[in-house]
Amino acid sequence: MAENILEVKDLVKHYPLTQGILFKKQVGAVKAVDGISFELKKGETLGIVGESGCGKSTLAKVLMNLERATSGQVLFKGEDISQLSGAALKAVRRNIQMVFQDPYTSLNPRMTVGDIIGEPFEIHPEVAPKGDRRKAVQDLLDVVGLNPEYINRYPHQFSGGQRQRIGIARGLALKPEIIICDEPVSALDVSVQAQVINLLEQLQGDFGLSYMFIAHDLSIVRHISDRVGVMYLGKMVEIGSDEEIYENATHPYTQALLSAVPVPDPTARESRDRIVLAGDIPSPANPPSGCRFRTRCWKAEDRCAEEIPLLAVPSVLEGPAAHESACHFPEVREQAAA
Ligand SMILES: Nc1ncnc2c1ncn2[C@@H]1O[C@H](COP(=O)(O)OP(=O)(O)OP(=O)(O)O)[C@@H](O)[C@H]1O
Ligand SMILES: [Mg+2]
Repeated sequence: MAENILEVKDLVKHYPLTQGILFKKQVGAVKAVDGISFELKKGETLGIVGESGCGKSTLAKVLMNLERATSGQVLFKGEDISQLSGAALKAVRRNIQMVFQDPYTSLNPRMTVGDIIGEPFEIHPEVAPKGDRRKAVQDLLDVVGLNPEYINRYPHQFSGGQRQRIGIARGLALKPEIIICDEPVSALDVSVQAQVINLLEQLQGDFGLSYMFIAHDLSIVRHISDRVGVMYLGKMVEIGSDEEIYENATHPYTQALLSAVPVPDPTARESRDRIVLAGDIPSPANPPSGCRFRTRCWKAEDRCAEEIPLLAVPSVLEGPAAHESACHFPEVREQAAA
């Protein structure tokens, strides 16, 4: 068993909702992340999926300490980093970097690629002293498959896939141990997505990186993830290995997401019954009582409105399929076709 590089314990991020212009009064809170616990093992890729607004990016920002947690802990190699500030924060931040969704807006159009990739060295000059920076940036360009001679070009001179390579090079500059990829291929053409994912996988092997890979749907994370966590309205509803999630999902929400994943084989596609979820996602400012998914769940009973289901290994699962799911009525769904 690999060691945990990151441990997240009961993490909460609430954004205050205020009213009034002069005297702001708090009238509620958006519960973007509402009590999430999981771990990331060294060298693994943990996929995080869920619909828009479920709190994936907020989770990433709190882990990176770009946003302060409302409560809970984030342990990096056993040390709680959630309340650090100043030099101590700066030192751990080096180890956790992020690659953003949209390579069109996340790169400053007025900066050269060399300046963009080398910018982190301004904050951490110890990684590449001034005289070595140009060479360090050229090496990074080479590592992500771009011509080192492009160092003086501007972002608009690159394609979407190339820009995301620039974003990845920047993420690698400080030699981090963890990279959080927030929908890194969602803005790219399907034909380019696989190339960027292959690059990320190759870099993971070369540098021993641990990844959190955020996406909307299960089809993208399947290829790259060792484990997958499914989020709904600020909560983790199911988490397990690739196989446990894709073959033995027990949470109705995971099953609904899986039923929407495109299947290449047309016979399997026809015989598979698709779950269409009723209704919209409730507001994270006012989530349903008990199980948050109950308002859209076909299995919901009275108990679901009264009791919050805990994330735990359900008794219906034994042996190799055992993994955590937060449902009062967990069961593996019979697929019409395997
Ligand atoms: N700075 C903020 N202030 C107030 N509310 C916020 C803030 N940032 C995010 N939210 C709210 O928190 C919830 C979770 O947002 P978040 O961006 O984390 O979702 P997401 O899962 O990343 O969605 P997407 O898939 O669209 O990127 C949303 O309801 C969002 O409106
Ligand atoms: Mg997001």
